[in-house]
Amino acid sequence: MEFIVAKNYEEMSRKAADVIAELVARKPSCILGLATGSTPEGLYAQLVKDCQEGKISFKDVSTYNLDEYRGLENDHPQSYHYFMEQHLFNHVNIDLAATHVPDGSNPDAAAACADYEAAIKASGGVDLQLLGLGHNGHIGFNEPADTFAKETNCVELTRSTIEANSRLFDHIDEVPTQAYTMGIGTIMRAAKILVVANGQGKAQIVRDAFFGPVTPQVPASILQFHPDVTVIVDEAAASLCQG
Ligand code: GLP
Repeated sequence: MEFIVAKNYEEMSRKAADVIAELVARKPSCILGLATGSTPEGLYAQLVKDCQEGKISFKDVSTYNLDEYRGLENDHPQSYHYFMEQHLFNHVNIDLAATHVPDGSNPDAAAACADYEAAIKASGGVDLQLLGLGHNGHIGFNEPADTFAKETNCVELTRSTIEANSRLFDHIDEVPTQAYTMGIGTIMRAAKILVVANGQGKAQIVRDAFFGPVTPQVPASILQFHPDVTVIVDEAAASLCQG
């Protein structure tokens, strides 16, 4: 595991964007696994800038997002489809037909998840999976559990995740209680993993996930067993890992 401490959010975002940009330059038809949340907003802004300045092209890139709320239409402002359009897809030269997010509008959870998992497999597999970290160690929407989920599945969100994500909704009752997410197995099959985390609020979970025991109670801890992981955090998020 490569553990990189950046000075601040901006430097974290630039360094993470560089990892993605280098892959896209080396392999223009690469498959990116993408994430939502506040953490990657800065790195998406950097990638948009790079693309608009002609430094990288997304023309042949395909993407698979980690997760989506169950029950939100794709154009709902809090859906992850919408997030990706606003922060990346609408501002770069990507073919929208090559972008994929689990279909939260499909009420048939088993079919939605099986279709998504099959599409990832048929694509040949994710070259680089970007991840943020939930405060409880969730990756995608894989919440603390007794086992690691192998494939894309429908999960019940924990109260703490619903509370954390309610900041983006008008009222906590509007936050969906379920989501479709790549499984831990799906994530672990990516050739490379890139994790970003910033701020004091993530310091404890960064320490637990990357320097604590590997356990499904801290889902991100399984990443310690992945052969190619780069973690990029700012100084605040790294503050409990030093000394
Ligand atoms: C959400 C997403 C995760 C994300 C996490 C952290 O629930 N499903 O993919 O990594 O929360 O979000 P943030 O970056 O806003 O702290």
